[in-house]
Amino acid sequence: MDTVSHAVHYIFLAAAACFVMGLHLMNHPRTARRGNTLSAGAMAVAIAATAWLILGENVISTTGWLVLTSGGVLGAALGLWAAREIRMTAMPQLVSLFNAVGGGAAALIAVGDLLQTGHPAALGARVSLPGALDIVIGAVTFSGSLIAAGKLQGVVSGAPVVFPGARLLNVLLPASFVVGTVWLVLAPDSRVALYGLVAVALLFGVTMVLPIGGADMPVVISLLNAFTGSAVAMAGFVLDETALIIAGMLVSASGGILTKLMADAMNRSIANIVIGGFGTGDSTPAATGSGAPAQVRSISADDVAIQLAYASKVIFVPGYGLAAAQAQHELGDLAKVLTDHGIDVSYAVHPVAGRMPGHMNVLLAEANVPYTQLKEMDDVNPEFPQADVALVIGANDVTNPIARRPGNAISGMPILDVDQAKSVIVIKRSMGHGYAGVDNELYTDPKTGMFFADAKKGLSELKAAVGEFVG
Ligand code: TAP
Repeated sequence: MDTVSHAVHYIFLAAAACFVMGLHLMNHPRTARRGNTLSAGAMAVAIAATAWLILGENVISTTGWLVLTSGGVLGAALGLWAAREIRMTAMPQLVSLFNAVGGGAAALIAVGDLLQTGHPAALGARVSLPGALDIVIGAVTFSGSLIAAGKLQGVVSGAPVVFPGARLLNVLLPASFVVGTVWLVLAPDSRVALYGLVAVALLFGVTMVLPIGGADMPVVISLLNAFTGSAVAMAGFVLDETALIIAGMLVSASGGILTKLMADAMNRSIANIVIGGFGTGDSTPAATGSGAPAQVRSISADDVAIQLAYASKVIFVPGYGLAAAQAQHELGDLAKVLTDHGIDVSYAVHPVAGRMPGHMNVLLAEANVPYTQLKEMDDVNPEFPQADVALVIGANDVTNPIARRPGNAISGMPILDVDQAKSVIVIKRSMGHGYAGVDNELYTDPKTGMFFADAKKGLSELKAAVGEFVG
């Protein structure tokens, strides 16, 4: 190994250490931005080091360099544009498209390597085994992520798409991966095995994701993110690139942990989600217990303002509607008026409120809400009975008491105990359902007042009205 290779290996090691530290910093909203910058910086250095290495080896032609740099510049520009321009509510689709690109690129590395190696006898299982695994995982991720993004964007039906024989196909296709992989290891020059494996894996990505309901898509995307990491790690084995192996495994492990945490927060197993059927938009009428039609109490901004102004303790419960209305700044402003008036204010954050992990934390951080006021579900639930007002802003499923009963789409999902507060106010536009498509019993609870408004407009009205009472 020459001096350049030595130096590059040390750079890769340092970059890997930065990836781990970056992940650790992402544990807390205060340090998350630094963690992101550190990891991105380390990846930029690792890419530059790789370029230095291949420049020294002189293995790429001028045309090759042109293709490489223009691809890099175009990809970076598109990534930057997408990350800046796409609305926060469309982030899950964007992440899914990024997964598709990552998985597809990793699979193409293996395909390219197997096609280029002109002397298959010398290839052996060292390359063809990770190559075959890379193709399988990468191609499944590519097509599966495109379907997931399509479902969230409304291009593909959000309802589970089930066709006759789908279950059998979803057993037969993975079985054929084993056959294809063994074939490719034994005969790395076989084009039939190579293209066959690519085709079967692409098909499985589609048939695996189509039967899964839209409500489960964020979990599926997180799972596919873990797959992308594994495919990239396999590509690292194919190319013998340490940095790629480490980065891929870190993505794979963290994606896997996140998937498990999300599934736990919905009280479902990952297998149950992949088998599908949840979030189909079925609507169960709100049970009143007596069989009588449920009554809804509609209240005005002034009614809400009086309750808030005379409260000692207020708990805000943000949900997807806050994100859709982009009302985080208005919420922060209202909270400031209340805290300035000596009222104890906190925010109850459910782990799957919104449409992606940490959705509420990101929004509230944007509005400069003090971290000390953010409370996780387990910490805030015992506080609801002492709260004079629980103000729910665009949250629905995560507050629905029917989750405590068996036999419905959200049974067993841990919820915020909003119904334990002395008074409950809900800001939303209508009696419309949340993502799981079920009626919310909280809205017909006698102590709940419904303030029908867009979250942004409603919160501005409340701030003005509270200001008049306390000002
Ligand atoms: P949801 O149950 O989806 O309810 C959101 C509510 O916001 C809707 O009922 C809607 O009612 C209201 N809304 C929409 N636009 C609004 C606006 N402009 N102003 C005011 N309100 C508005 O939200 P949630 O309680 O946050 O629950 C999240 C759901 O997503 C759960 O079912 C969860 O399992 C699922 N999910 C989340 C994740 C992650 S990681 N976050 C992952 C998988 C699944 P109106 O139309 O009447 O206004």
